Amino acid sequence: QMLVIETKKELKDNLSAFISDSKSLGLVPTMGALHSGHLSLIEKASKENDQVVVSIFVNPTQFNNQNDLEKYPKTLENDLNLIKTVSNNIIVYTPSVEEIYQNNVSAEIYDFQGLDTVMEGEFRDNHFNGVGTIVEELLTSIAPNKAYFGEKDFQQLQIIKKLIQIKAIPVEIIGCPIVREESGLAMSSRNERLSTPMRKEAAFIYKTLKDAKEMFGTKNAIQVVEWVENQFENNEFLSLEYFQIADIDTLKSVTEKLNNKKYRAFIAVFVDDIRLIDNIAL
Ligand code: PAJ
Repeated sequence: QMLVIETKKELKDNLSAFISDSKSLGLVPTMGALHSGHLSLIEKASKENDQVVVSIFVNPTQFNNQNDLEKYPKTLENDLNLIKTVSNNIIVYTPSVEEIYQNNVSAEIYDFQGLDTVMEGEFRDNHFNGVGTIVEELLTSIAPNKAYFGEKDFQQLQIIKKLIQIKAIPVEIIGCPIVREESGLAMSSRNERLSTPMRKEAAFIYKTLKDAKEMFGTKNAIQVVEWVENQFENNEFLSLEYFQIADIDTLKSVTEKLNNKKYRAFIAVFVDDIRLIDNIAL
């Protein structure tokens, strides 16, 4: 039977049985508006753990734009139905803002050692401090054995790995592959806001990432970046915010390829006023 729980105390009471039985607990943090990308995380967590908690919480401290926060889709009924399609044995945690933050809705300031100042962090000052604050709260109050995050938000995944290191939180962070639409477009709740023709155009993002990956075999990073920038200059529907090839550990953009390093290409693109991100392992 699926349980929907709104308070920390009720959650603790329900989980204490598992902890004493030494069963394994998996956590999947989300902000709701669930789609197949989220469901893939929940499926993996269900396979690997005796009990799974899915949290649904639109975290105010990670939004730097009040309008964005207010407009964030809230589809709880539909989310619960989607979760049921994965398993009936899931605890859904849907706390209120007061339950999480009491009367102090603010983010802790972390030292993520530069991981938070590039790409998604560059123009969103406190964003990753807000993500860190809510994820730390969920990890410490729920104390899962494993927590699941998508590679769709690869920078977020790396920052959360840094967070548990800094705070010595005993949990295994599991990164999960990007789930895509048939066209290759990475699944996102924002895709729903694209018009049908623009949703088709947006497939160009992943197509270009794949071409860039192939090109990185023979060309250097600077040449690949130039080529990608050129592709987008010639595209009348999509406008490029950034494309960069970065070391997966530091997330710093690279110009030179070293044999002992792993790289990923990262991209952010506007389609009309909708901002989409994606990335690919090189
Ligand atoms: P949200 O955007 O709801 O995403 C929840 C999780 O689903 C994240 O780990 C995200 O990377 C993953 N995800 C989203 N789309 C995906 C896709 N197409 N393929 C694979 N995984 C995908 O990310 C957040 O919420 C918040 O920042 C959160 C971590 C919950 C903290 O508030």
